[in-house]
Formats: sequence, C-alpha cells, structure tokens
Amino acid sequence: MKTKHTLESLKLDGKVVFVRADLNVPIKDGKITDETRIQASMQTIEYLLMKNCTVLLTSHLGRPKGGFEEKYSLKPVATRIQEILHEPVVYVKDCIGEEVHKAIQQYKGQAAVLVLENLRFYPEEEKNDADFARKLSEHADFYVNDAFGTAHRAHASTHGIVAHLPSAPGFLLKKEIDYLGSVFQNPKRPLITVLGGSKVSSKLSVLKALLEASDKVLVGGGMAFTFFKAQGLEIGKSLCEDDFLTEAKNLMNQYGEKLVLPVDARISQAVSEGQSVQVVSCSEIPADMLGVDIGPATEKLYLSHLKSAQTVLWNGPMGIFEIAEFALGTKRICEGMANLKNCVTIVGGGDSVAAVNQMGYDDKMSHISTGGGASLEFLEGKTLPGVAALM
Ligand code: 3PG
Repeated sequence: MKTKHTLESLKLDGKVVFVRADLNVPIKDGKITDETRIQASMQTIEYLLMKNCTVLLTSHLGRPKGGFEEKYSLKPVATRIQEILHEPVVYVKDCIGEEVHKAIQQYKGQAAVLVLENLRFYPEEEKNDADFARKLSEHADFYVNDAFGTAHRAHASTHGIVAHLPSAPGFLLKKEIDYLGSVFQNPKRPLITVLGGSKVSSKLSVLKALLEASDKVLVGGGMAFTFFKAQGLEIGKSLCEDDFLTEAKNLMNQYGEKLVLPVDARISQAVSEGQSVQVVSCSEIPADMLGVDIGPATEKLYLSHLKSAQTVLWNGPMGIFEIAEFALGTKRICEGMANLKNCVTIVGGGDSVAAVNQMGYDDKMSHISTGGGASLEFLEGKTLPGVAALM
C-alpha cells in the first residue's frame, strides 16, 4: 500500500492524533460479544501511546438514527480498551465541540487514549459534511485511518477529514490492504479461492474478479445450486436465483475447469435445528428436499486442491453453518485451511470470519479480515474511498 505518509514517517511524538478505527463490535446487554475488531485496532493505539501521543480514538457503532442512543454508545468499548491496556482510558460523551475541547486541554502532551462518542450520532458523519469533517479535525495534529471495515464508506471521518490534516493509514488498514491486495498482485501460486455464501447475485462481481485472479475457485454454499439448475439438474427446494441462470451458464462456459462445483451435497427436509441429514450426489437431489451443506466427497475434493495451494483466500461458508447439523462442510474446509503449511491463508467476509472464530481456528490463519462489506468491495476491485483519500 503506497500512501503519501506512513505512521512511521510522521513526526508524531507528543502530538494529538485523531484515529478513525472500526470499533463497530456486536454488543448484547451492554456486553461485547466479539472483540476481534478491538483487538485488531490495538497495535496502532499502542504504537501511538509509545510515541507519547494523545489519541482521540473514534468510531461508529451500529446505525443510529441521528442523536444519542444508549445502545449505540461506545462507552463499553472504552471500558474494554482500558482493561486491555491496563491504563486509564477516558470516555468523552461527544466527538466534537466543548466536551472534546475540555478533555484535550486536560490530556494534551501526555500519552493518553480518549474514546470519543459514536460519530454517527451526528447525521453529518454519513453525509461526509465538510464542516463536520473540519470540526472533527480541529483539535488534532494528525489523522490516522485504521478503519478498514468502514473504508468502503465516504464519510466525514473516513474521507472528508483528510483534507484538514496530514494523514496516514494505521497498521491494521495497511495489513488488510497488503494481504487482500496480494490476491491480485503477485500472489504465491497456486492461488485457490474458496467462495461460498447464499446468493450468486451478491457475489457475482467478486466471483468474476476472483475467477480472473485465481488458479481455481471452489464454490460452496447456497449459490452452488443456481449453477446446478443452470446445468439442468433437479435441485429440489434448494436456494436458487432463476434470474442468474444464464449468467451461471456463461461463467461455467467461460471458465471451464477453473470453476469447481460440489460433487455431492448434504440435504435435509427443512432449515432448522435437529433435522436429519442425508448425503446425495448433486445430480440426485429429491424434489422435496434442499441442499444445506457440501457433502464429504466435495470436502475431499476441495481439500486435495487446497493441499497444493500456496495462497488460499476464503470468503463465505460452505453451508448453513449456524445450524450445527449443517456446519460440517464449513468446518472441514476451515480445518483443512488452518492445517496448511507454508501457505498464505486469508479469510474475508463476515460469515466466514464468524465461522473461523466460532470453530477456534482464528490464530491459525495468516490474516483474518476485519471488513465485511469492505473486504467484498475491495475483492470486487472497487476503489475504497477511505483508502483512496490517503493515497
Ligand atoms: C461493518 O460492520 O461492515 C462496518 O463497520 C461498516 O458498517 P456499516 O455497514 O453500518 O457502514
């Protein structure tokens, strides 16, 4: 990632630094249920503290309607960061104006973390309002963007603010772009992509981009059934997007053996817990049943492809993994990927990241992306406004 400035090139010592992170973590009854994004943001925060910076740590949380809402407050996040750092962290009940000004006066010149309140409590944030961007910037000497998960949004804190301060990417943003970018720029080959998820429509652009970049794309999840139907096979009650049958046929013709489809499936009567599961070949799905996961022969086939890989990118689960009976295919692929030696393994997309975490393989992958929508848009080849602003 080549940017105008880097964290290391800025003279940060003792300065006030506005950090835009993505601390949009799930919170239930005031408790953070997955802190991946907080942990991923710590390297930049700790580096700035080491440089004696006063860190104005900012983020959005959820999609508030405009104005303060307790359930979208960043206070629990501030508390968690304080526990991680074993240092006091200051929670500021606003992200602009008097409250921020007062807190900065108190902590300026000291190594400190000030967690400012949810940027989206101001509708101006999402409108990329120029005056709001200026207000955000007014107390800081530098701007650091570490919010890869929000880099696909052109908001005041990810885009507009760059006009006001010398700016650099944080370590997380840089790592994300370097890893995900490596899929398109000189990947170690063979590069095998595993692409799952429910719909062809939502993955079509990314599928095309990855078919171009990869040596093989192994398809799983609900979207495989649209390809089977396009071949004239019976798919029973399985998920299918009839509007995409022609597109699916064209892709199979254009990419031939590069596009690898499941050979068998786990099928069930309904999508609910406790259902019994049968394994059938993909040409034998009964009319009254539906595919819920890839089958064991497909697992074997996909794992044999993965064994030859030097780079693996995985985006999207192989089945309805949230239901234990339908999670086996996703689990086997995840396990297989985690056990690869001398291979760069990259996981992107909300569901596959959740699957890796749920199955406990998070520390076995080379890189787990913190971006859901952002990683998909990046892999589709779209320009991310938050990244482009730093270039
Ligand atoms: C995400 O969770 O994908 C990011 O934090 C972006 O959130 P948004 O979709 O509400 O902009």
